[in-house]
Amino acid sequence: MLNVKTIGVIGAGQMGGGIALVAASNKFNVVLCEKSADQLHKCEADHKKRLGREVEKQRMQQADADAALKRIKYVQAMDLIRDCDFVVEAVVESSQVKRDIFAGLARMMREEVILATNTSSISITEIAAAAEVAHKGAGQRVIGMHFFNPVPVMKLVEVIKGLQTSEATTSGTIELAKLLGKTPVPANDRAGFVSNRVLMPLINEAFYAWMEGVAEPAHIDEIMKLGCNFPMGPLRLADFIGLDTCEHIMNVLADGLNNDRYRACPLLRQLVAAGRLGDKSGRGVFDYTQPAK
Ligand code: 3HC
Repeated sequence: MLNVKTIGVIGAGQMGGGIALVAASNKFNVVLCEKSADQLHKCEADHKKRLGREVEKQRMQQADADAALKRIKYVQAMDLIRDCDFVVEAVVESSQVKRDIFAGLARMMREEVILATNTSSISITEIAAAAEVAHKGAGQRVIGMHFFNPVPVMKLVEVIKGLQTSEATTSGTIELAKLLGKTPVPANDRAGFVSNRVLMPLINEAFYAWMEGVAEPAHIDEIMKLGCNFPMGPLRLADFIGLDTCEHIMNVLADGLNNDRYRACPLLRQLVAAGRLGDKSGRGVFDYTQPAK
């Protein structure tokens, strides 16, 4: 039986911020750790705005929104998560950065604490190995807990077992995901897991369709939205995810599955090289710098 009162979240970007908000809204205390003071302030302001919106839409009482915000501690120093009962890491998608963080967590956290990563593409087994080297036995407590953007809206948590992950870690993570109001679904530790193994080649193919002049971007998206009931077309979704992230995941698939059919479309690579990264840079496939018509 899981005994978690306080969740440590590392990284206050879009994903970490969303995870922290969902945890606090579901009555967990949260220690949200982010090394950039600017990002931390931005995240806190976003939480206030989101909770305000929930109250405005009468989905939450003002007192509950205030209480949720109070449950989040915004901190910059990693060692302030030391007493947490569960950790979810959501920093940049860099294997080296994540391995360093998990080595630190393995040394710092109590021995029963589950150490989850929100990675969308990096091998859980590799991250767990770094934890194991730092502290014997820690590898079996490392697991993938892959949330989807926007975290407060999307129901899925893909739960990924590394080679070393124990059954207790898996069942504890599934239990926590349910307590967060999510639907956990298991997957194995192969490149892209299930979600990105299937989603990214679809997005990549939409770039090929554009590059080859099959249709213009807005029409590609309209066809997939109206024809397949997608909430967003694949190119709009690529902008939302970040074109650099899409390219990175395609590289992980191509390398991890050792198959060139997963190589990123040249047009996707070109947009990334030009700094057109999607929503976050103001322009990707589409331009977000102009006021919406
Ligand atoms: N945070 C919290 N809530 C949000 C939000 C955010 N960032 N964005 C939207 N919402 C909520 C709001 O509550 C809003 O309701 P409200 O207006 O009543 O407050 C509700 O979603 C609907 O939003 P909008 O009316 O602004 O817009 P849409 O109806 O078009 O919905 C969407 C937006 C939910 C993002 C929808 O377009 C969608 O589901 N898109 C697909 C998203 C998707 O596929 N995500 C997965 C990406 S892949 C991934 O994350 C994995 C990674 O590894 C790459």
